[in-house]
Amino acid sequence: MMRVLILMLFCFVSGGTDRVSTTCTPEACLTLHLEKKPFENASEDCINNGGNLVTVRNENELQSIKSVLSAAGEYNILNSKVWIGLMLQKTNCTDLTEKLRGFRWTSEPTDSKYSNWKNEPLSTCTEKRCVSISLADGLEWSDGSCRDSAFYMCKFLFKGMCKPIVLEEPGYVKYNVPFLGLFNPLTPNERLVMVPHGTWAEIQCGGSEDAKTFVSICDNKNAHFGWTTERFCARNKSCKSKNGGCDHRCIDTAGAGVRCDCREGYYLKDDKVSCALKINCEKSPCESKCIPSATGFSCACEEPGFKLAKDNVSCVDIDECQQGTCGEHRCQNTPGSYLCECKPGFRLVAGKCEDVDECTEFSCQQGCLNSQGSFSCYCHAGYSSSSNDSRKCIDIDECVSRPCEDVCLNTLGSFECSCREHFILAKNGISCVPEPTEKIQITPSPDHRGAFITKLSQIIFPKTSRSWHLGHVRKGQGL
Ligand SMILES: *[C@@H]1O[C@H](CO)[C@@H](O)[C@H](O)[C@H]1NC(C)=O
Ligand SMILES: *[C@@H]1O[C@H](CO)[C@@H](O)[C@H](O)[C@H]1NC(C)=O
Ligand SMILES: *[C@@H]1O[C@H](CO)[C@@H](O)[C@H](O)[C@H]1NC(C)=O
Ligand SMILES: *[C@@H]1O[C@H](CO)[C@@H](O)[C@H](O)[C@H]1NC(C)=O
Ligand SMILES: *[C@@H]1O[C@H](CO)[C@@H](O)[C@H](O)[C@H]1NC(C)=O
Repeated sequence: MMRVLILMLFCFVSGGTDRVSTTCTPEACLTLHLEKKPFENASEDCINNGGNLVTVRNENELQSIKSVLSAAGEYNILNSKVWIGLMLQKTNCTDLTEKLRGFRWTSEPTDSKYSNWKNEPLSTCTEKRCVSISLADGLEWSDGSCRDSAFYMCKFLFKGMCKPIVLEEPGYVKYNVPFLGLFNPLTPNERLVMVPHGTWAEIQCGGSEDAKTFVSICDNKNAHFGWTTERFCARNKSCKSKNGGCDHRCIDTAGAGVRCDCREGYYLKDDKVSCALKINCEKSPCESKCIPSATGFSCACEEPGFKLAKDNVSCVDIDECQQGTCGEHRCQNTPGSYLCECKPGFRLVAGKCEDVDECTEFSCQQGCLNSQGSFSCYCHAGYSSSSNDSRKCIDIDECVSRPCEDVCLNTLGSFECSCREHFILAKNGISCVPEPTEKIQITPSPDHRGAFITKLSQIIFPKTSRSWHLGHVRKGQGL
């Protein structure tokens, strides 16, 4: 679908041979000049008027150009050549590998991915070539000598556009658009929907006896484009005639026309002339709460979980599930509330799913680690988890791997070495050494030494570590 062609100003400037047809889209205004000129002169004319020769960088631009040419149909231009701003420099070569074949647009950006050649352009590195289109060729591009004369189209870019002026009383508007010379008066046309930034509108109000004209300008007004005058042909209003257009009270203001006001119980609507009945809170249509305001009332919703509907009167349920209230858990919206369905390992606390600390509820026999939505048990040194029930721990029989030099006794979580007669356990708690023959009082007995090693192991290894490396360990040690 063709991008909306908003404004169709079709106008021929009288008095000269340069007849012009104009179209403005929200992006730009295009002018068709029905006077044949060489390419350079045509380009110069566009630039002198504040624009450039027209570009065809995409399908939208093509459609805009088509509408301008079609609108000028009555001038029998079907077979006429029309310059577009595409040219090959004298020093540049045609390049078949490029979309534009080495040609460049005369205005920025000079390159484009779009092209619409009718035939391959003449292959040259020494000749300046220029591109024209015609309705008969379906607007396909043809290159030719730049010295040929042809009609041409200019493009004018504007910072923005204004809606055309709507008069409040019968009157007459003349637009002076900021291109084609300084200003080009164009008469309003019914199809006119946009006029460019910088346009001067000369307004003459029909109702005025002196038919004084005044001017309004299409300008940038806080981020949007609008007219510098707010109301048109209403400034001469008087309260004496038709109550100044006011529904209720009319107040004459010096120099600024009239001001309307409303009777008690009514408020002035946005059009500044009509009055509407204020509805007070006693008769309000509010479904829930009514709050008195300047224009009567406004509604609010008191019940939690409800908000004001689009009609500003009723209340609708807030879908808490849309707000991700339950996170990764299933959410069910209910009138005024919601319900989270927690995944296993989570429990509902104050409407939200919270992780259950299984370590306080399930009994791991030894160690427990809580995690989000789950938990795991672990066993202390000298134990391994049971393959049947991971919460349980089974003692490892260390004696199986024969850690002692002589006798090994498995204990819960550990083991104990001992020696045959006439041997005592070495300091490492594993080997056996011959019993000393001379009994010296200060030599500690094996039991004392064992106690010493136990003490040492408690210092070196905290309670959960495997203390059997040091050999003799008491029952229960290492838990
Ligand atoms: C084109 O421009 C040149 C120089 O500006 C001028 O001498 C010439 O008369 C112009 N030709 C036409 C046809 O306007
Ligand atoms: C001429 O060709 C060169 C190389 O392709 C390119 O960079 C340059 O922009 C061209 N100049 C013009 C004016 O087209
Ligand atoms: C319009 O205003 C002018 C003076 O500003 C006044 O002379 C004229 O009578 C007014 N016309 C109407 C129709 O009120
Ligand atoms: C509701 O109020 C808003 C803000 O005041 C307003 O923009 C909107 O037009 C109102 N809707 C209706 C249906 O009155
Ligand atoms: C594991 O379970 C099997 C049968 O369910 C039972 O025969 C076996 O004794 C159990 N083992 C332990 C270590 O509990």
